[in-house]
Amino acid sequence: MYHVPQTIANDIHYIGVNDPDIRTFDIVMRTANGSTYNAYLIKTSEGIIIVDTVKKEFQDIFFQRIEALCSYSDIKYVIIHHIEPDHSGALPELIRKAPHAKVLISPQATTMLKAITGSEEIEFETIWTNKQLKLGEKTITFLTTPYLHWPETMSSYVHEDKLLFSGDVFGSHYYDRRLYDDLVGDFSYAFAYYYEHIMRPFKTYVNNALKLYTRFDIALIAPLHGPILRDNPKQYIDLYTQWSQKNKHHDTKVLSIFYLTSYKNTQEMAHAIMEGSESIDGVTTNIYDLASIEEPNMIKILEESDGFLIGTPTINADAPKPVWDLLSCLMFLEKTGKTASAFGSYGWSGEAVDNIIARLKSLKLKVPPLPLLKIKLIPSREELSQCYSFGVEFAEILNGKMIEIEMN
Ligand code: FEO
Repeated sequence: MYHVPQTIANDIHYIGVNDPDIRTFDIVMRTANGSTYNAYLIKTSEGIIIVDTVKKEFQDIFFQRIEALCSYSDIKYVIIHHIEPDHSGALPELIRKAPHAKVLISPQATTMLKAITGSEEIEFETIWTNKQLKLGEKTITFLTTPYLHWPETMSSYVHEDKLLFSGDVFGSHYYDRRLYDDLVGDFSYAFAYYYEHIMRPFKTYVNNALKLYTRFDIALIAPLHGPILRDNPKQYIDLYTQWSQKNKHHDTKVLSIFYLTSYKNTQEMAHAIMEGSESIDGVTTNIYDLASIEEPNMIKILEESDGFLIGTPTINADAPKPVWDLLSCLMFLEKTGKTASAFGSYGWSGEAVDNIIARLKSLKLKVPPLPLLKIKLIPSREELSQCYSFGVEFAEILNGKMIEIEMN
């Protein structure tokens, strides 16, 4: 029964597939409810449009669904909103079956198209915001929505049905055979989790996409994963709007100092830095012991911080794991504009601070050219005074003091 396509709007059919057993997606995401690879088929009097494909290992079901609706010779266009293999896996075989169909992709996807299909011969055309496809009774306006979450990602809007094909935007890794948001179980956790892992690092681009979407009256959102959203779709747009707000909870700049300490030396440095930064008006400083902080809290604190400092001891010529765990949390955040640096006490050689600063630079964070703050073992009164000055200078820079920062 569930290998039959389902009609989701006038002459628009769901031809996606289910992956109920997947538990880890893209290495970093967990899913208790599996996922789906959504694809769609639009029938018109002038031919067929396929909207996205599915992961290769499920392509047989995808093709069965197409064959239940049309002949391959009827397919005029294949729209690829997102070329990641979970949505383009069946594309090479689809092109073999319908070689005359024209593939529509964003300009950024052209080199990837060749890489994924292994062919230079594919007939394709590039699409971008406001370009339209009119075929038979359907009018589709394309919308460039880059970095949601790859550089080439697109959305599109079918005017006659008020339907938004949103790509990965508004997706969830949540399989439920009942398909629609108002029929499936409570998937709100999966919707939020997906946003946090896939979309949150690109908030600026989410806001740009939302501006494009508001031009349209949207009755139905058809994403690439999870339930199709028809129960007041505005509620999902509102959630993304709320989550992508950049309004902070503070009127001041926020500096977060994270530290890890073996013998309280790095901790003492952290507190001296904090004293210095607190002396600067307009900067709120908070301090956290990395030994006792959970990852979701690290992410939340980093997101709220305009700047952060990492205090690390050196063990076996490197920073200990909790420090690297903190840095790995940046993967889930928009890093642009954040200022950061490192400091620490060490026993033998003190490589950790250099290693962390190098990593911060490679992540394109703003690392001010302050004197390196590495102290051998127990900080002296004079060295604590250096820490205080470091805190003052870092806070001043955070507060807008102009300095030259070399970016990698
Ligand atoms: Fe669902 Fe970004 O692939």
